[in-house]
This record gives sequence, structure tokens and C-alpha cells, in this order.
Amino acid sequence: MATILCFLFFLFSSAIACKQCVYQSKATSFSSSASLSSGACGYGSLAPGFNGGHLAAGVASLFRDGVGCGGCFQIRQPDKFRPHWECIRGFGKGGLADDIVKLGIVDVEYKRIPCDYGNQNLSVRVEETSQKPQYLAIDLLFQGGQTDIFQVKVAQVGTSDWTPLSRNKGAVWDTSRVPAGALQFQFLLQEGFYGKWVLAPTVLPADWKAGVIYDAGVQITDVAEQNCSDCGDGEVWQ
Ligand SMILES: *[C@@H]1O[C@H](CO)[C@@H](O)[C@H](O)[C@H]1NC(C)=O
Ligand SMILES: *[C@@H]1O[C@H](CO)[C@@H](O)[C@H](O)[C@H]1NC(C)=O
Repeated sequence: MATILCFLFFLFSSAIACKQCVYQSKATSFSSSASLSSGACGYGSLAPGFNGGHLAAGVASLFRDGVGCGGCFQIRQPDKFRPHWECIRGFGKGGLADDIVKLGIVDVEYKRIPCDYGNQNLSVRVEETSQKPQYLAIDLLFQGGQTDIFQVKVAQVGTSDWTPLSRNKGAVWDTSRVPAGALQFQFLLQEGFYGKWVLAPTVLPADWKAGVIYDAGVQITDVAEQNCSDCGDGEVWQ
């Protein structure tokens, strides 16, 4: 009996709910890669311009079949001469990125952090594959906060006749049941332990066009709880 109780205690205490879990991994560098030119998230021709063209690629556990698209991360070398967190800002500009190029493969720690775009709102880009009136594909740009978007719904402004979009690939959501008129959206995300719908009441005008980026008029600042064994120096959810 005592053994079982100890074991259960271990199970409950081994994972704690954190605002920022710290993970161990390895990082390496590529001088060029065809896949980096557009990326798996589906941002297409926009991708090479992100972050001044200084790009880093993530493994499948970060990509998470597209759920991870839009996340922001910091990285550091644990217990080394550079113990502070930094954003990877491309190669050849000093810092950790320099070491990665020099050493080939380095042990790193990383954590997800809130994305902060200043005054920039969440934005909806209408994909070039959209075809009025029967097909709408969008991706979300400048998503603030530190949370995933799990569902997206669209409705004509002024109605509550919501149509769910499907995750097509990466950051791209689509539907072939496109409401007429100007369009509003709802996004399901996580705040702490709970789900939360965020309403963007007017996003696309009635004459929306493929290839155009529209301001959603809202921004996301929520932080989702994560379970991990190491909260680093970040906060624990109570
Ligand atoms: C963000 O949305 C708010 C509310 O709709 C709007 O007033 C503001 O102008 C938008 N910010 C930018 C930078 O477009
Ligand atoms: C964290 O753990 C709790 C309790 O086991 C579980 O209910 C919750 O779904 C987990 N959250 C995540 C994001 O994995």
C-alpha cells in the first residue's frame, strides 16, 4: 500500500503546470534549404521575408501538424558561457547562432514565450487559392500571446450563423461554405487551463480579395498552461 501511494505521489508531482516549460534539445545550422524558402506552415511567398529573412526551422514536435505555426521561442545554451536567453536572429550576427555554425551541433534549451507585435493586431491573410464565392482559405498572421488556436469559425457580420473552418495545412484554415457579405471570425484558444473564444467582429469586407491581408481588429495576449517537469525561472500556475 505504501509503495502505491508513493508512486501515485510521484505521478502527480512529476508534471507541474507552468507558464513557460523549459525543454532540452539540439540545434544545428543549414546554409540553405529549399524547404526554408516557403516552409510547412503555408505562409507561401511571405515566409522568406519574416524576421528580416533570418529563418530557423523547427522539428515535428514544435510544428505539431501546424498547430505550432506562429509560436515564438527563446533558446540558450545551458551551463555554458552564454547562459542568457535569446531569440535566434539568423546566422553570422554573433551570439548563439554563431556558435551553432562554428560547432555544428550544440545542446540547447528552449522555451515558448508570448509573441509581442506591439500595436500590430492579429491579421487574416486571404490565401491566393480562395475563390469567391465558393472557397475561402485564410492564414493568421501576427498572433500575439502564447497559446494555440484550436478552432476557427466564420459568419456574415450581423448574423450568428457560424461556419467552422478546417485546418487545411500548417497555419491555413479553409471552408467551401463561404457566407456572403462582410465576414466576422471567432478563434478558440486556451487561457490558462480553459478554452476561450475570441470574437473579431469585422474582419473581411464584402469585397474581400485573395492575396490581401486584413486587420482583425483584435489581438491575443493569453497564455496557455503547459505541463512539464521544469518551469525554469518562469511562473507556475496556481
Ligand atoms: C487594432 O484594432 C483596433 C480595434 O479595432 C483599432 O482601433 C486599431 O487601429 C488597430 N491597430 C492597428 C495598428 O491597425
Ligand atoms: C495538464 O495536466 C492536467 C492534469 O493531468 C490535464 O488535465 C491537462 O489536460 C494537461 N494540459 C496539457 C496542456 O497537457
